[in-house]
Amino acid sequence: MDIQQTRILQDLDAAHHLHPFNDNGALAAKGTRILTRGQGCYVWDAEGNKLLDAFAGLWCVNIGYGRSELGEVASRQMTQLAYYNSFFQCTTEPTIRLAAKLAELTPGDLNHAFFVNSGSEANDTILRLVRHFWAVQDQPRKNIFIGRHNGYHGTTMAGASLGGMKGMHGQGGLPIPDIVHIEPPFWFYDGGDLSEDEYGLVAARRLEDKILQLGPERVAAFIGEPIMGAIGVYIPPRTYWPEVERICRKYDVLLVADEVICGFGRTGQWFGSQYFGFQPDVMPIAKGITSGYIPLGAAMFNDRVAGVLKDQGGELAHGATYSGHPVCAAVALENIRILQEEKIVETARDHIAPYLAQRWAELGEHRLVGQARIAGLMGALELVPHKGQRTTFAERGTVGTLCRDNALRHGLILRATYDSMLLSPPLVITRAQVDELFDKAWKALDETAEAIAI
Ligand SMILES: Cc1ncc(COP(=O)(O)O)c(C=O)c1O
Repeated sequence: MDIQQTRILQDLDAAHHLHPFNDNGALAAKGTRILTRGQGCYVWDAEGNKLLDAFAGLWCVNIGYGRSELGEVASRQMTQLAYYNSFFQCTTEPTIRLAAKLAELTPGDLNHAFFVNSGSEANDTILRLVRHFWAVQDQPRKNIFIGRHNGYHGTTMAGASLGGMKGMHGQGGLPIPDIVHIEPPFWFYDGGDLSEDEYGLVAARRLEDKILQLGPERVAAFIGEPIMGAIGVYIPPRTYWPEVERICRKYDVLLVADEVICGFGRTGQWFGSQYFGFQPDVMPIAKGITSGYIPLGAAMFNDRVAGVLKDQGGELAHGATYSGHPVCAAVALENIRILQEEKIVETARDHIAPYLAQRWAELGEHRLVGQARIAGLMGALELVPHKGQRTTFAERGTVGTLCRDNALRHGLILRATYDSMLLSPPLVITRAQVDELFDKAWKALDETAEAIAI
């Protein structure tokens, strides 16, 4: 695209498009980056820059860009039956086949899918249906959800309330009632002198304290991301999730694992709960279900919850026009076929993740990096002012943003949350591309350190 055309589009964008999670005034003045094409792990922008996308779009392009099979399937389904709903005692073949496929893929007895369009909507669905689950069993007061400060569960009223981002709660009068939060497990800044394993138990028992404070008869569910993504890839100690699971079982609190990021191979396992060895009762999924090629989400329920909803739930007063959209379902099935037939998750786990972990640890040796954490193909570099000390910069986020911009100039997309540099490449990244990522990230770290005289 020539420069003139790019400028015209940027002006139109500034005039008519409100961007999510942006200061729109500042963005309009600067001009947005327009992406024009993608192939494998790379995207190109309108100015012709080739960028290694080490963030897979937004944690989602798991099979990589440019897989024409997904477009072909979408085109076939649109031509045959572009749309029908699942409301009027009807549905479509791809929708049924996808529900069955998800029942097979997800762990344990998560055998029942309620389809939506996004991760946020999956969490809205869960809030409503879990409360309904308890209400129809004569426990309407067992309606409180416990989430975590700095957790991220989307941007709808329920999603943003379940999440614990202060900035989000500050807009729109959130959280909605009967949602409370406990501190998240982040050993690096919170663990003090405890070992990571000791700290994992301490962090999990905050859940028990909160349940006892509220009364178990009031607590419907606990919701958490197996690895907290948006806040900075907080990888909990190994001891955390099994202890959370034990506590949930003890007090009959449903365990909701938000797998919107971790699902579909991100950790090298199909689901993050498998990576940590625990069994959720309810599981929101989205993103990697279609590798981001088309919007789709689902709430998966186990036999117990779905059984009650079916036998005692009456008419579920919930759903959207596009719940179970046949085109989205067909694309998801094709995406899952590719993931399975090409053994993309297993290859990522066995051949890429160990090499990526090795190179990521090398980045951890940089003078600006206090911790290099990684689980499968999901990681973060924690930038710190004093190597060897677990302290933050006085003004959080400035250094991370600088590092992100430096990486971009070298043709590498990393995301920054505060001063954590986040990694989540397509699962199809090669070893050569891991080396490229390392070289570019190291240069960006060097330039950032020099700029702030470290
Ligand atoms: C863990 C988690 N849950 C839910 C969501 C919301 O998903 P969506 O943006 O599709 O609504 C996200 C988005 O990043 C997420 O990371």
